[in-house]
Amino acid sequence: MDSGKQITFPLLLSVGAAVIGSLQFGYNTGVINAPQNVIENFINQTWYGRYSDPITKGSLTAIWSVSVAIFSVGGIFGSFSVGLFVNRFGRRNSMLMANILAFIAAALMGFSKMADSWEMLIIGRFVVGLYSGLSTGFVPMYVGEVSPTALRGALGTLHQLGIVVGILIAQVFGLDAVMGNENLWPLLLGFTFIPAVIQCILLPLCPESPRFLLINKNEENKAKAVLKKLRGSTDVSTDIKEMKEESRQMMREKKVTICELFRSPIYRQPLVIAVMLQLSQQLSGINAVFYYSTRIFEKAGVEQPVYATIGAGVVNTAFTVVSLFVVERAGRRSLHLLGLMGMAGATILMTIALALLEKLKWMSYLSIVAIFAYVAFFELGPGPIPWFIVAELFSQGPRPSAIAVAGFSNWTANFIVGMCFQYIEELCYPYVFVIFTVLLLVFFIFTYFRVPETKGRTFDEIAAGFRQTVDGEKHSPEELNSLGADSQL
Ligand code: GLC
Repeated sequence: MDSGKQITFPLLLSVGAAVIGSLQFGYNTGVINAPQNVIENFINQTWYGRYSDPITKGSLTAIWSVSVAIFSVGGIFGSFSVGLFVNRFGRRNSMLMANILAFIAAALMGFSKMADSWEMLIIGRFVVGLYSGLSTGFVPMYVGEVSPTALRGALGTLHQLGIVVGILIAQVFGLDAVMGNENLWPLLLGFTFIPAVIQCILLPLCPESPRFLLINKNEENKAKAVLKKLRGSTDVSTDIKEMKEESRQMMREKKVTICELFRSPIYRQPLVIAVMLQLSQQLSGINAVFYYSTRIFEKAGVEQPVYATIGAGVVNTAFTVVSLFVVERAGRRSLHLLGLMGMAGATILMTIALALLEKLKWMSYLSIVAIFAYVAFFELGPGPIPWFIVAELFSQGPRPSAIAVAGFSNWTANFIVGMCFQYIEELCYPYVFVIFTVLLLVFFIFTYFRVPETKGRTFDEIAAGFRQTVDGEKHSPEELNSLGADSQL
């Protein structure tokens, strides 16, 4: 087999160990959903124990919403800090070190019941959010850097697959019969400890990223040795040649800071697109479902809401696999458009189901169909594509800053949905999903007019496409350089 396409054991081990980080992110996204009632009871009892008064509905909603959404606040800080670690400690060691956060979080959440403290639960959620924010930067970066070019897309999608499998595991473990009950819910939240232990055992067996060794550390011999293992071949000259080219490109195109990224007109268009795509992923409302679906189904009259939640997790996983196989054929732009339109249709169905529920009991079934369709369309495009398209839209110099800004936008929008959904739901029920219909249509229109197709195009071709449209005029690279320099004055 061509060594450029060979999946060797060391490669599989490295990617597998890394995506445990994605799994942790997914697990902690989904884990808070099914046991909502059980943990709310704990908050209620603790409150009563302290103040000898039952908690008000307002305070309970507030504490619960904070417990859910503080996870994304951690994610905001984590994703923004990725750059502080990766070049200093290396990619693999950064992932390894982040596990300290997973252990602290597991202890805080796991012992919160014993300590009668919902504050510990909230802090634990924040800390595991920090870990997850770091993971959303570390994992795609490491996986991209150890993968051979021909497999980079397929292996890169494993990040989203890790996330959705994590969500599904959390949903199953969250069942009343497994750990989502009064006695075991601390174990359910503390479970994060186990993947962290496994990752700490596996990562030291994995190599550092050869790109980091060669480009950042200038350790060519080490990089070669790692590449030989990863590729299962003694001839790694093509890889080395390509990395040296990348290294030269990096010297030509100096490191672009976040401020420069905002100031320079050359990057404005791809930056707006990158941020809008992150917003389209989160403001589609997907995490309203992954944080609150059990409650949504319950209100929609579904008899076994927890099983409907698990159904959503299964559909979610299945369609991520579908996307993995079609994305290189159908293209990013078309799949994203199809996904957004399909989701908009599903939110309309959901609104009809909720609005007619009083009169027609079978509408609860329609609500299940609507949520399943919504999740399926999400995973076709808006789920996986924003995570990897940012790297495609930017060249080597501005890429790290662009990834930090994109991650920050993603997690901020995630926070807004997690924090506000319950309140908006109370205000607008049964029309809460109409808000998402409107947002989805806006993102559809934006994608239709502004997002280029990146499938099969090199980074250079994509960047050249943007250059042509700065100020609506065609510019030569020299003119653009001076435009960029002027704007930085
Ligand atoms: C994406 C989102 C994440 C969401 C998940 C659902 O990875 O970034 O917030 O929970 O998809 O599958």
